[in-house]
Amino acid sequence: MKKIDVVKLILADRLSHSAQEGSFTAFAPTNIALCKYWGKRNQELNLPQTSSFSISLAEKGAETTIAISDTSCDVIVLNGKVVDSSSSFSQRLSKFLDLFRESKFTYFAITIRSSVPIAAGLASSACGFAAIVQALNKLYGWELDEKELSILARLGSGSASRSIWHGFVEWHAGIRVDGMDSYGELLSETWPELCVGLLIVSDQEKKISSREAMQRTVETSALYSAWPKKVVNDMTLIKDAIHHKNFDLLGSTAESNALTMHATMLSAWPPIHYGLSETLMTMQTIWQARYDGLSLYFTQDAGPNLKCLFLDKDKNDVKSMLPMMDIIKPF
Ligand code: PMV
Repeated sequence: MKKIDVVKLILADRLSHSAQEGSFTAFAPTNIALCKYWGKRNQELNLPQTSSFSISLAEKGAETTIAISDTSCDVIVLNGKVVDSSSSFSQRLSKFLDLFRESKFTYFAITIRSSVPIAAGLASSACGFAAIVQALNKLYGWELDEKELSILARLGSGSASRSIWHGFVEWHAGIRVDGMDSYGELLSETWPELCVGLLIVSDQEKKISSREAMQRTVETSALYSAWPKKVVNDMTLIKDAIHHKNFDLLGSTAESNALTMHATMLSAWPPIHYGLSETLMTMQTIWQARYDGLSLYFTQDAGPNLKCLFLDKDKNDVKSMLPMMDIIKPF
């Protein structure tokens, strides 16, 4: 099954909708997985091996405006600069937009304002694809529900399926071959005291994409067989921790989940290691602080940057220890 077949299933008779005049804007927050998505069961449709769980980062994300353009190719403006149409960024986006053109001569003008660095393991593609499907939904007047938007966003990037909502989101792995049961779902619970701190070690584009890294891990890591079991256990612990507001359980489960994911990568061949020396130094600072009694945890994605988890009451202590941190209150 191809992506276009899924688009046809979702849009059905809305496929005949014409684009409306004018431009349409949507915002999607970026999300950080507390229980990671690592490994696909279907490469084409970005169907995951396991479910995953995330927290969205409030105002950090992508605001995307879309309109039909009378040019002879898509025109993409990212943070005020026109993106070269031969760049990998532009080609990936245009390929995704191919799924939604009324004819092959339909082109789009897209303006993206992203408050997260691109391709640095800060889920820029997650908020990017989630925002674009929501903007397309307005442009074509499809009136899709959030579940359908989540499935369409997944076709752009797996983790984008979780960026349709603010708050805690579970992405159900699903078992169907067409992926119609693989979408995000908002958890109704909130946690107003929860803080996420971004520690940008490097905002350079990563050399190995998460797509390539997860595939190599699935194919070559002897440790990968332990991953699905770990996820099932961590998903239960995380939901329990949120329900009972047990912060140490939440933090320790998220940190252990991230480190286990990185262990599977390290045991892949050729090995994959996204950390820099500053990443490890910061981890050691966090472990020492925890030993000294501070409830501070981290998670790490496909890049060298760390995302810290702590409660509002510890904000000043955390900030004085790691002054470069950008603190976000998700609720
Ligand atoms: O959605 P992708 O292809 O960018 O993969 C995301 C992978 C991780 O960020 C490492 C984990 C996750 O669940 O977000």
